[in-house]
Amino acid sequence: MKPKIWLSSPHMSGNELPYIQEAFDSNWVAPLGPNVNGFEFDLQTYLKEDCHVAALASGTSALHLSLILLGVEKGDEVICQSKTFSASANPIVYQGATPIFVDSERETWNMCPVQLEIAIKDRVSKGIKPKAIIAVHLYGMPYKVDEINQVALKYEIPVIEDSAESLGSEYNGRKCGTFGDFSILSFNGNKIITTSGGGALVSKTLKNKKKAVFLATQARDNAPHYLHSQIGYNYRMSNIVAGIGRGQMTVLDSHVAKRRSNHEFYVSVFKNNDNIVFLQEPEGCFSNRWLSCILLKSKSIREGLRLSLENENIESRPLWKPMHQQPVFKNAPRYLNGVSDELFEKGLCLPSGSNLTDAELDRVVTTINTYFNK
Ligand SMILES: Cc1ncc(COP(=O)(O)O)c(C=O)c1O
Repeated sequence: MKPKIWLSSPHMSGNELPYIQEAFDSNWVAPLGPNVNGFEFDLQTYLKEDCHVAALASGTSALHLSLILLGVEKGDEVICQSKTFSASANPIVYQGATPIFVDSERETWNMCPVQLEIAIKDRVSKGIKPKAIIAVHLYGMPYKVDEINQVALKYEIPVIEDSAESLGSEYNGRKCGTFGDFSILSFNGNKIITTSGGGALVSKTLKNKKKAVFLATQARDNAPHYLHSQIGYNYRMSNIVAGIGRGQMTVLDSHVAKRRSNHEFYVSVFKNNDNIVFLQEPEGCFSNRWLSCILLKSKSIREGLRLSLENENIESRPLWKPMHQQPVFKNAPRYLNGVSDELFEKGLCLPSGSNLTDAELDRVVTTINTYFNK
Protein backbone atom coordinates (compact mmCIF):
# COMPACT_ATOMS: atom_id res chain seq x y z
CA MET A 1 0.00 0.00 0.00
CA LYS A 2 1.33 3.45 -0.93
CA PRO A 3 1.65 5.98 1.92
CA LYS A 4 -1.55 7.90 2.68
CA ILE A 5 -2.04 11.35 1.22
CA TRP A 6 -4.36 13.35 3.48
CA LEU A 7 -6.88 16.01 2.58
CA SER A 8 -5.51 18.47 5.12
CA SER A 9 -3.25 17.30 7.93
CA PRO A 10 -1.57 19.17 10.81
CA HIS A 11 1.67 20.90 9.83
CA MET A 12 3.95 21.70 12.74
CA SER A 13 6.92 24.02 12.27
CA GLY A 14 9.01 23.24 15.35
CA ASN A 15 8.44 26.80 16.58
CA GLU A 16 5.65 25.47 18.80
CA LEU A 17 7.90 23.45 21.13
CA PRO A 18 9.67 26.31 22.97
CA TYR A 19 6.29 27.77 23.98
CA ILE A 20 5.15 24.39 25.29
CA GLN A 21 8.46 23.84 27.09
CA GLU A 22 8.13 27.27 28.69
CA ALA A 23 4.63 26.36 29.92
CA PHE A 24 6.00 23.15 31.49
CA ASP A 25 9.01 24.94 33.00
CA SER A 26 6.85 27.66 34.56
CA ASN A 27 4.06 25.21 35.50
CA TRP A 28 1.41 27.17 33.57
CA VAL A 29 -0.43 23.92 32.83
CA ALA A 30 -3.96 25.32 33.07
CA PRO A 31 -6.65 26.99 30.98
CA LEU A 32 -5.00 30.37 31.49
CA GLY A 33 -1.47 31.75 31.36
CA PRO A 34 1.04 33.65 29.24
CA ASN A 35 0.52 31.57 26.09
CA VAL A 36 -3.24 32.18 26.17
CA ASN A 37 -2.67 35.94 26.46
CA GLY A 38 0.14 35.81 23.90
CA PHE A 39 -1.88 33.84 21.35
CA GLU A 40 -4.80 36.27 21.71
CA PHE A 41 -2.42 39.19 21.20
CA ASP A 42 -0.86 37.53 18.11
CA LEU A 43 -4.29 36.91 16.58
CA GLN A 44 -5.44 40.47 17.28
CA THR A 45 -2.26 41.83 15.70
CA TYR A 46 -2.70 39.57 12.67
CA LEU A 47 -6.33 40.56 12.14
CA LYS A 48 -5.21 44.22 12.25
CA GLU A 49 -8.68 45.71 12.92
CA ASP A 50 -9.71 47.03 16.30
CA CYS A 51 -10.93 43.70 17.69
CA HIS A 52 -10.74 41.63 20.87
CA VAL A 53 -9.92 37.93 20.72
CA ALA A 54 -10.87 35.30 23.32
CA ALA A 55 -9.03 31.97 22.90
CA LEU A 56 -11.43 29.07 23.44
CA ALA A 57 -11.60 25.29 23.40
CA SER A 58 -13.05 25.16 19.86
CA GLY A 59 -14.70 27.08 17.06
CA THR A 60 -17.96 25.42 18.06
CA SER A 61 -17.75 26.83 21.59
CA ALA A 62 -17.04 30.28 20.08
CA LEU A 63 -20.22 29.99 18.00
CA HIS A 64 -22.18 28.88 21.05
CA LEU A 65 -20.96 31.83 23.13
CA SER A 66 -21.68 34.30 20.34
CA LEU A 67 -25.30 33.10 20.23
CA ILE A 68 -25.56 33.42 24.02
CA LEU A 69 -24.08 36.93 23.91
CA LEU A 70 -26.61 37.90 21.25
CA GLY A 71 -29.39 36.71 23.54
CA VAL A 72 -30.52 33.72 21.47
CA GLU A 73 -32.91 31.63 23.53
CA LYS A 74 -35.41 28.80 23.34
CA GLY A 75 -38.02 29.49 20.67
CA ASP A 76 -35.86 31.94 18.69
CA GLU A 77 -34.88 31.47 15.07
CA VAL A 78 -31.37 31.89 13.68
CA ILE A 79 -30.54 32.00 9.98
CA CYS A 80 -27.60 29.82 8.96
CA GLN A 81 -25.85 29.13 5.66
CA SER A 82 -26.99 25.66 4.59
CA LYS A 83 -23.78 24.81 2.79
CA THR A 84 -21.46 24.46 5.76
CA PHE A 85 -20.09 22.02 8.30
CA SER A 86 -22.61 20.96 10.98
CA ALA A 87 -20.71 22.85 13.71
CA SER A 88 -22.04 26.15 12.27
CA ALA A 89 -25.61 25.07 12.98
CA ASN A 90 -25.42 22.80 16.04
CA PRO A 91 -25.00 25.60 18.64
CA ILE A 92 -28.32 27.11 17.49
CA VAL A 93 -29.95 23.91 18.71
CA TYR A 94 -27.87 23.91 21.94
CA GLN A 95 -29.74 27.15 22.73
CA GLY A 96 -33.13 25.57 22.02
CA ALA A 97 -33.51 27.82 18.96
CA THR A 98 -34.43 26.77 15.40
CA PRO A 99 -32.00 26.98 12.49
CA ILE A 100 -33.39 28.48 9.28
CA PHE A 101 -31.25 27.35 6.36
CA VAL A 102 -30.40 29.62 3.45
CA ASP A 103 -28.88 28.43 0.17
CA SER A 104 -25.72 29.59 -1.61
CA GLU A 105 -24.90 31.69 -4.68
CA ARG A 106 -22.60 30.41 -7.42
CA GLU A 107 -19.79 32.97 -7.27
CA THR A 108 -18.42 32.13 -3.82
CA TRP A 109 -20.57 29.07 -2.91
CA ASN A 110 -21.57 30.92 0.27
CA MET A 111 -24.82 32.45 1.56
CA CYS A 112 -26.93 33.96 -1.19
CA PRO A 113 -27.96 37.53 -0.25
CA VAL A 114 -31.12 37.25 -2.36
CA GLN A 115 -32.25 34.06 -0.60
CA LEU A 116 -31.30 35.65 2.72
CA GLU A 117 -33.69 38.54 2.16
CA ILE A 118 -36.44 36.20 0.98
CA ALA A 119 -35.96 34.14 4.15
CA ILE A 120 -36.02 37.16 6.48
CA LYS A 121 -39.14 38.61 4.86
CA ASP A 122 -40.92 35.27 5.08
CA ARG A 123 -39.97 34.66 8.72
CA VAL A 124 -41.04 38.20 9.65
CA SER A 125 -44.35 37.67 7.83
CA LYS A 126 -44.83 34.57 10.01
CA GLY A 127 -44.31 36.68 13.11
CA ILE A 128 -40.74 35.71 14.10
CA LYS A 129 -37.82 37.97 13.30
CA PRO A 130 -34.56 35.95 13.17
CA LYS A 131 -32.22 36.78 16.06
CA ALA A 132 -28.94 36.34 14.13
CA ILE A 133 -27.42 35.38 10.78
CA ILE A 134 -24.54 32.87 10.61
CA ALA A 135 -22.62 33.33 7.35
CA VAL A 136 -19.62 31.16 6.50
CA HIS A 137 -16.49 31.70 4.35
CA LEU A 138 -16.45 28.06 3.27
CA TYR A 139 -13.17 26.46 2.09
CA GLY A 140 -11.56 29.87 2.71
CA MET A 141 -13.52 31.77 0.06
CA PRO A 142 -14.97 34.99 1.48
CA TYR A 143 -18.75 35.28 1.30
CA LYS A 144 -20.28 38.41 -0.26
CA VAL A 145 -19.65 40.49 2.83
CA ASP A 146 -21.04 43.80 1.53
CA GLU A 147 -24.25 42.29 0.19
CA ILE A 148 -24.89 40.13 3.28
CA ASN A 149 -24.16 43.06 5.61
CA GLN A 150 -26.50 45.30 3.62
CA VAL A 151 -29.41 42.89 4.13
CA ALA A 152 -28.48 42.36 7.79
CA LEU A 153 -28.36 46.12 8.40
CA LYS A 154 -31.64 46.73 6.59
CA TYR A 155 -33.44 44.33 8.95
CA GLU A 156 -31.19 45.10 11.94
CA ILE A 157 -30.11 41.52 12.50
CA PRO A 158 -26.58 40.85 13.84
CA VAL A 159 -24.16 38.70 11.81
CA ILE A 160 -22.00 35.93 13.23
CA GLU A 161 -19.11 35.44 10.82
CA ASP A 162 -17.99 31.80 10.74
CA SER A 163 -14.36 32.19 9.75
CA ALA A 164 -13.35 28.68 10.91
CA GLU A 165 -11.95 27.81 7.48
CA SER A 166 -10.78 31.25 6.39
CA LEU A 167 -8.01 32.56 8.63
CA GLY A 168 -5.69 34.39 6.21
CA SER A 169 -8.41 35.14 3.65
CA GLU A 170 -9.31 38.74 2.81
CA TYR A 171 -12.25 40.69 1.46
CA ASN A 172 -11.40 44.05 -0.13
CA GLY A 173 -8.03 43.96 1.63
CA ARG A 174 -9.43 43.32 5.11
CA LYS A 175 -8.94 40.03 6.96
CA CYS A 176 -11.80 37.58 7.28
CA GLY A 177 -12.66 37.17 10.95
CA THR A 178 -13.25 40.92 11.39
CA PHE A 179 -16.57 41.46 9.60
CA GLY A 180 -19.21 40.03 11.92
CA ASP A 181 -20.76 41.49 15.05
CA PHE A 182 -19.02 38.38 16.35
CA SER A 183 -16.57 36.26 14.35
CA ILE A 184 -15.22 32.83 15.11
CA LEU A 185 -12.00 30.99 14.24
CA SER A 186 -11.09 27.31 14.48
CA PHE A 187 -7.72 25.68 15.08
CA ASN A 188 -8.91 22.11 14.72
CA GLY A 189 -6.45 19.52 13.38
CA ASN A 190 -7.35 20.05 9.73
CA LYS A 191 -7.33 23.87 9.72
CA ILE A 192 -4.79 26.23 8.13
CA ILE A 193 -3.08 26.52 11.50
CA THR A 194 -3.89 24.06 14.24
CA THR A 195 -3.53 23.78 17.98
CA SER A 196 -4.81 20.15 17.86
CA GLY A 197 -8.20 21.49 18.91
CA GLY A 198 -9.11 25.07 19.67
CA GLY A 199 -10.93 28.15 18.53
CA ALA A 200 -11.43 31.84 19.16
CA LEU A 201 -14.20 34.38 19.44
CA VAL A 202 -13.51 37.78 17.90
CA SER A 203 -15.55 40.62 19.44
CA LYS A 204 -15.84 44.27 18.50
CA THR A 205 -15.63 45.41 22.12
CA LEU A 206 -13.49 44.54 25.12
CA LYS A 207 -16.70 44.33 27.16
CA ASN A 208 -17.97 41.48 25.00
CA LYS A 209 -14.62 39.70 25.12
CA LYS A 210 -14.73 39.90 28.92
CA LYS A 211 -18.28 38.54 28.96
CA ALA A 212 -17.18 35.66 26.71
CA VAL A 213 -14.22 34.80 28.95
CA PHE A 214 -16.48 34.97 32.02
CA LEU A 215 -18.96 32.50 30.49
CA ALA A 216 -16.11 30.32 29.19
CA THR A 217 -14.65 29.96 32.70
CA GLN A 218 -17.79 28.70 34.46
CA ALA A 219 -19.35 32.14 35.04
CA ARG A 220 -17.72 32.57 38.45
CA ASP A 221 -18.89 35.69 40.26
CA ASN A 222 -16.44 37.76 42.24
CA ALA A 223 -16.33 36.10 45.67
CA PRO A 224 -13.83 34.10 47.76
CA HIS A 225 -16.10 31.06 47.56
CA TYR A 226 -17.54 29.62 44.35
CA LEU A 227 -20.51 31.82 43.49
CA HIS A 228 -22.63 31.64 40.35
CA SER A 229 -25.59 33.71 39.25
CA GLN A 230 -25.49 32.45 35.65
CA ILE A 231 -24.91 29.15 33.87
CA GLY A 232 -21.28 28.90 32.78
CA TYR A 233 -19.20 26.76 30.44
CA ASN A 234 -15.77 25.20 30.46
CA TYR A 235 -14.77 26.63 27.09
CA ARG A 236 -11.39 28.34 27.70
CA MET A 237 -8.26 27.33 25.78
CA SER A 238 -5.47 25.63 27.70
CA ASN A 239 -2.07 27.31 28.04
CA ILE A 240 -0.38 24.28 26.44
CA VAL A 241 -2.65 24.37 23.42
CA ALA A 242 -2.18 28.15 23.13
CA GLY A 243 1.59 27.53 23.02
CA ILE A 244 1.08 25.46 19.86
CA GLY A 245 -0.98 28.37 18.52
CA ARG A 246 1.79 30.91 19.14
CA GLY A 247 4.25 28.75 17.23
CA GLN A 248 1.76 28.21 14.41
CA MET A 249 1.21 31.97 14.04
CA THR A 250 4.83 32.28 12.93
CA VAL A 251 4.06 30.14 9.85
CA LEU A 252 0.49 31.21 9.06
CA ASP A 253 1.49 33.36 6.07
CA SER A 254 3.64 30.57 4.62
CA HIS A 255 0.77 28.09 5.08
CA VAL A 256 -1.54 30.44 3.15
CA ALA A 257 1.07 30.81 0.39
CA LYS A 258 1.56 27.03 0.09
CA ARG A 259 -2.19 26.29 0.01
CA ARG A 260 -2.62 28.93 -2.67
CA SER A 261 0.24 27.42 -4.64
CA ASN A 262 -1.35 23.94 -4.38
CA HIS A 263 -4.50 25.42 -5.88
CA GLU A 264 -2.61 27.20 -8.67
CA PHE A 265 -0.76 23.96 -9.42
CA TYR A 266 -4.03 22.02 -9.81
CA VAL A 267 -5.48 24.81 -11.98
CA SER A 268 -2.43 24.82 -14.24
CA VAL A 269 -2.16 21.06 -14.71
CA PHE A 270 -5.89 20.65 -15.42
CA LYS A 271 -6.35 23.76 -17.54
CA ASN A 272 -7.02 21.68 -20.67
CA ASN A 273 -9.24 19.14 -18.89
CA ASP A 274 -12.78 20.35 -19.53
CA ASN A 275 -14.17 17.80 -17.04
CA ILE A 276 -12.83 19.87 -14.14
CA VAL A 277 -14.04 23.31 -13.04
CA PHE A 278 -12.47 25.38 -10.24
CA LEU A 279 -13.98 28.06 -8.03
CA GLN A 280 -12.53 31.41 -9.19
CA GLU A 281 -11.68 34.24 -6.83
CA PRO A 282 -14.23 37.01 -7.43
CA GLU A 283 -12.99 40.63 -7.62
CA GLY A 284 -11.96 41.81 -4.13
CA CYS A 285 -11.70 38.29 -2.68
CA PHE A 286 -8.43 36.72 -1.54
CA SER A 287 -8.94 33.10 -0.49
CA ASN A 288 -6.52 31.22 1.73
CA ARG A 289 -7.50 28.23 -0.49
CA TRP A 290 -7.80 26.13 2.65
CA LEU A 291 -9.16 23.37 0.44
CA SER A 292 -8.78 23.10 -3.32
CA CYS A 293 -12.21 22.12 -4.61
CA ILE A 294 -13.31 21.01 -8.06
CA LEU A 295 -16.65 20.51 -9.77
CA LEU A 296 -17.15 17.51 -12.04
CA LYS A 297 -19.86 17.04 -14.66
CA SER A 298 -21.99 14.61 -12.65
CA LYS A 299 -22.30 12.80 -9.35
CA SER A 300 -21.21 9.50 -10.93
CA ILE A 301 -18.00 11.06 -12.29
CA ARG A 302 -17.38 12.65 -8.90
CA GLU A 303 -17.84 9.34 -7.14
CA GLY A 304 -15.74 7.45 -9.70
CA LEU A 305 -12.90 9.89 -9.23
CA ARG A 306 -13.17 9.80 -5.44
CA LEU A 307 -12.96 5.99 -5.45
CA SER A 308 -9.99 6.01 -7.86
CA LEU A 309 -8.17 8.34 -5.46
CA GLU A 310 -9.15 6.13 -2.51
CA ASN A 311 -7.72 3.08 -4.33
CA GLU A 312 -4.41 4.94 -4.47
CA ASN A 313 -4.66 5.72 -0.73
CA ILE A 314 -5.39 9.38 -1.46
CA GLU A 315 -8.03 11.09 0.68
CA SER A 316 -10.57 13.32 -1.04
CA ARG A 317 -14.06 14.32 0.13
CA PRO A 318 -17.33 15.40 -1.50
CA LEU A 319 -18.13 19.07 -0.91
CA TRP A 320 -19.98 19.40 2.40
CA LYS A 321 -23.50 17.99 2.34
CA PRO A 322 -25.85 20.94 2.92
CA MET A 323 -27.52 21.16 6.32
CA HIS A 324 -31.01 21.11 4.81
CA GLN A 325 -30.21 17.60 3.50
CA GLN A 326 -29.00 16.32 6.89
CA PRO A 327 -31.39 13.90 8.65
CA VAL A 328 -30.86 15.69 11.96
CA PHE A 329 -32.20 18.95 10.47
CA LYS A 330 -35.00 17.44 8.41
CA ASN A 331 -37.68 19.61 10.04
CA ALA A 332 -35.79 22.91 9.85
CA PRO A 333 -37.26 25.58 7.54
CA ARG A 334 -35.16 26.21 4.41
CA TYR A 335 -34.92 28.74 1.57
CA LEU A 336 -33.39 27.05 -1.44
CA ASN A 337 -32.34 27.79 -5.00
CA GLY A 338 -30.71 24.44 -5.91
CA VAL A 339 -27.10 25.69 -5.78
CA SER A 340 -25.85 23.85 -2.70
CA ASP A 341 -27.59 20.62 -3.81
CA GLU A 342 -25.75 20.78 -7.13
CA LEU A 343 -22.42 21.60 -5.51
CA PHE A 344 -22.80 18.59 -3.22
CA GLU A 345 -23.57 16.30 -6.18
CA LYS A 346 -20.66 17.41 -8.34
CA GLY A 347 -18.00 18.75 -6.01
CA LEU A 348 -14.87 17.17 -4.61
CA CYS A 349 -12.16 18.50 -2.25
CA LEU A 350 -8.64 17.50 -3.24
CA PRO A 351 -5.60 17.07 -0.96
CA SER A 352 -4.69 20.61 0.03
CA GLY A 353 -2.32 20.56 3.01
CA SER A 354 0.54 23.02 3.40
CA ASN A 355 2.82 20.01 4.00
CA LEU A 356 2.12 18.27 0.66
CA THR A 357 5.30 17.43 -1.24
CA ASP A 358 5.74 17.81 -4.99
CA ALA A 359 5.82 14.01 -5.26
CA GLU A 360 2.48 13.76 -3.43
CA LEU A 361 0.90 16.40 -5.64
CA ASP A 362 2.18 14.51 -8.69
CA ARG A 363 0.59 11.29 -7.37
CA VAL A 364 -2.77 13.06 -7.03
CA VAL A 365 -2.54 14.50 -10.55
CA THR A 366 -1.43 11.22 -12.10
CA THR A 367 -4.36 9.40 -10.48
CA ILE A 368 -6.83 12.01 -11.76
CA ASN A 369 -5.34 11.95 -15.28
CA THR A 370 -5.46 8.14 -15.33
CA TYR A 371 -9.13 8.24 -14.33
CA PHE A 372 -10.04 10.59 -17.17
CA ASN A 373 -7.87 8.82 -19.77
CA LYS A 374 -9.18 5.32 -19.16
C1 LIG B 1 -17.30 26.04 8.84
C2 LIG B 1 -16.95 25.53 10.21
N1 LIG B 1 -17.55 26.08 11.28
C3 LIG B 1 -17.26 25.67 12.52
C4 LIG B 1 -16.31 24.70 12.75
C5 LIG B 1 -16.08 24.26 14.16
O1 LIG B 1 -14.81 24.43 14.60
P1 LIG B 1 -14.20 23.43 15.74
O2 LIG B 1 -13.93 22.13 15.08
O3 LIG B 1 -12.96 24.14 16.17
O4 LIG B 1 -15.20 23.34 16.83
C6 LIG B 1 -15.65 24.12 11.66
C7 LIG B 1 -14.59 23.09 11.80
O5 LIG B 1 -14.54 22.13 12.40
C8 LIG B 1 -15.99 24.53 10.36
O6 LIG B 1 -15.39 23.97 9.30
